[in-house]
Amino acid sequence: MTLPLTAIVNARLAGRPGLYRVAMADGRFTAIDAQADSQSASADELDAGGNLLLSPFVEPHIHLDAALTAGEPRWNQSGTLFEGIECWGERKAMLSRDDVVTRAEQTLKLFAAHGIQYVRTHVDVTDPQLTALRAMVEVRERVREFVDLQIVAFPQEGILSFPGGKELMTEAVAIGADVIGGIPHFEFTRDYGVESVKWLMDLAERNDCLVDVHCDEIDDPQSRFLEVLAAEALSRDYGSRVTASHTCAMHSYDEAYCSRLFRLLGKSGLNFVALPTENLHLQGRFDGYPKRRGVTRVPELLDAGLKVCFGQDSIRDPWYPMGNGNLLRTLDVGLHACHMLGMERIDTALEIVTDNGAAALNLKGYEIAVGNPARCMVLNGATPYEVLLNQSPVLASIRDGRCLVQREAPVHEVAGWS
Ligand code: FE2
Repeated sequence: MTLPLTAIVNARLAGRPGLYRVAMADGRFTAIDAQADSQSASADELDAGGNLLLSPFVEPHIHLDAALTAGEPRWNQSGTLFEGIECWGERKAMLSRDDVVTRAEQTLKLFAAHGIQYVRTHVDVTDPQLTALRAMVEVRERVREFVDLQIVAFPQEGILSFPGGKELMTEAVAIGADVIGGIPHFEFTRDYGVESVKWLMDLAERNDCLVDVHCDEIDDPQSRFLEVLAAEALSRDYGSRVTASHTCAMHSYDEAYCSRLFRLLGKSGLNFVALPTENLHLQGRFDGYPKRRGVTRVPELLDAGLKVCFGQDSIRDPWYPMGNGNLLRTLDVGLHACHMLGMERIDTALEIVTDNGAAALNLKGYEIAVGNPARCMVLNGATPYEVLLNQSPVLASIRDGRCLVQREAPVHEVAGWS
């Protein structure tokens, strides 16, 4: 572990002109002062070099229990969500505590190297032994120095449609899950789906847990569990603690239904997670041409005042064989898929993988502000536009005043070409 820093100098802060010196002591920010000029950094200071300093990246949605298992025991050749669930069913039978811990920690290390310090992982609890869930509770403690990890009790094969589903969810909370999950569109019937949402909201309220539901991850325009989740959240005054993940079917809803739905969503205050790389790959698989993108209505949700963040969903697992841990890649794909390359969208794009993720995870003390934990990252670029153009890994990641990551910006020189 490196020695603690006393300050970061020559930093640019989002939405503020000029350069700043951000001081820290005992793991917390102690002062944020405008600089008249560029300063040289002393041995215990970090020079941000005029680049953007932001709070750390937040990964709001990843399946760490399945990470790094692509091709085991077989590849998902069709690329569909449903073949992915079949492949995972075969791999799940081989899980052990050591297997889960090793892959989860490898993946979290990759995330930390890319400036991610907060992660929400869904863990499949449709396993009578709850092997992955028990291992992940251990991982949460083992990585605490580097990453804050939230664990979702995720019923991959359903709550009502899997034998003992309710009991396994309840046991997962007792073992230490932080967040209640669900998958209503995968339950056997519409009635089961509705009942599962009401049941999981009851479980969350009883245990004072957050909620994050895989909701309508399907191209079926009749998959309308989001309205059920939003109405339940609204009636219980629970909206800011509830996240709707995927909501792909909204891509296929007609405009009349959507106009009614958005009224409810606005009142509910739900958080949304879109998974653009994953859903571009998984959705549209039953379409001829033209093929739907299957990514939820991100700009429309943002314009309605709702918080939308992007997550990776998978790192080389049965559903998605790619992924490198860099959320800027996910952001770039999402901005393209959602027609969000207007300059106003670009200027605020980094909020999607920072502030909005923090809102979904209900993080406290996340902002770069005096008194908060000294956690931040230096990006390669002075503006969000430059950061998106450069697409480079973070130049630095600081956690509680200590530097976890520091690297040089890539250079783009060609020998002999002046
Ligand atoms: Fe997911």
